[in-house]
Amino acid sequence: MLITGGASGIGLEATKQFLEIGARVIITGRNQDKLDAVKQAMPSVTVIKSDVEKEEDAHSLFTQVTALGGIDLLYHNAGVGSPALNLGATNDQILENAVYEMKVNYFGVIRLNNLFMDMLKSRTQSAIIITTSILSLVPALEEPTYSASKVALSFYTKLLRKDLEILGSSLKIFELLPPLVATEMTAKRNDKKMTTHDLVKALLSGIKKDQLTIRVGDTKLIYLISRFFPKVAFNLVNPKKIYAQLR
Ligand SMILES: NC(=O)c1ccc[n+]([C@@H]2O[C@H](COP(=O)([O-])OP(=O)(O)OC[C@H]3O[C@@H](n4cnc5c(N)ncnc54)[C@H](OP(=O)(O)O)[C@@H]3O)[C@@H](O)[C@H]2O)c1
Repeated sequence: MLITGGASGIGLEATKQFLEIGARVIITGRNQDKLDAVKQAMPSVTVIKSDVEKEEDAHSLFTQVTALGGIDLLYHNAGVGSPALNLGATNDQILENAVYEMKVNYFGVIRLNNLFMDMLKSRTQSAIIITTSILSLVPALEEPTYSASKVALSFYTKLLRKDLEILGSSLKIFELLPPLVATEMTAKRNDKKMTTHDLVKALLSGIKKDQLTIRVGDTKLIYLISRFFPKVAFNLVNPKKIYAQLR
């Protein structure tokens, strides 16, 4: 299997837990030092420096993975988020953030899927895991362009699953919707956070049960509330205390 962004955060925990259940794991990331540290701690992991934003990296990754015998599971975990900005206050940074997040979180997934799709479809048992977010259900004022990138990814995920079904393919498409999880990405947030350990346990349990949409922790609650009381869900994700930093 291949995990993008597997050298830290949720991806690193996934690397450990998939290894524990006997998977042969290849991970990617942009930072060679982080990849080297994983290789040292877990020598059986194959590490490949590769940026999901870059076309040439993706092609090289595909060639290297093919040479290693290919994969049955492609786990899109790499993702980025930018600091909070008020979309109503003119700032060139808003566009820069949006472009960066879309390039990594959205186009990065489509790029690798285009490369690996035929390989994955040719396997008897294969799957893709796509990491969206609780924020693909309800957007966060603190992460506006990030929320938009994850909702784009979530729509893509649902349509990819249906398109494969129309083609008669057995390739499974899992969508993982984490709540707030304690990683580098959320280090500055003081709210309640799930551990990476518990999140990945829930992912593995969802996969075992063949549950294609894996909503974890608070995501389950926000999903239900957002269906019936969208304003209540919006206010739960965006409590008034955060308005001050957006003024
Ligand atoms: N933490 C949360 O609360 C939360 C909630 C919902 C969803 N998620 C999603 O879960 C996923 C993992 O997040 P995390 O919290 O574990 O974040 P993290 O701690 O910041 O880790 C992100 C990982 O992605 C890699 N990465 C970033 N950009 C990349 C690129 N262009 N190419 C290849 N690798 C790249 C990073 O490694 P390098 O820097 O070395 O490239 C890092 O290993 C993301 O998709 C995120 O959006 C997180």
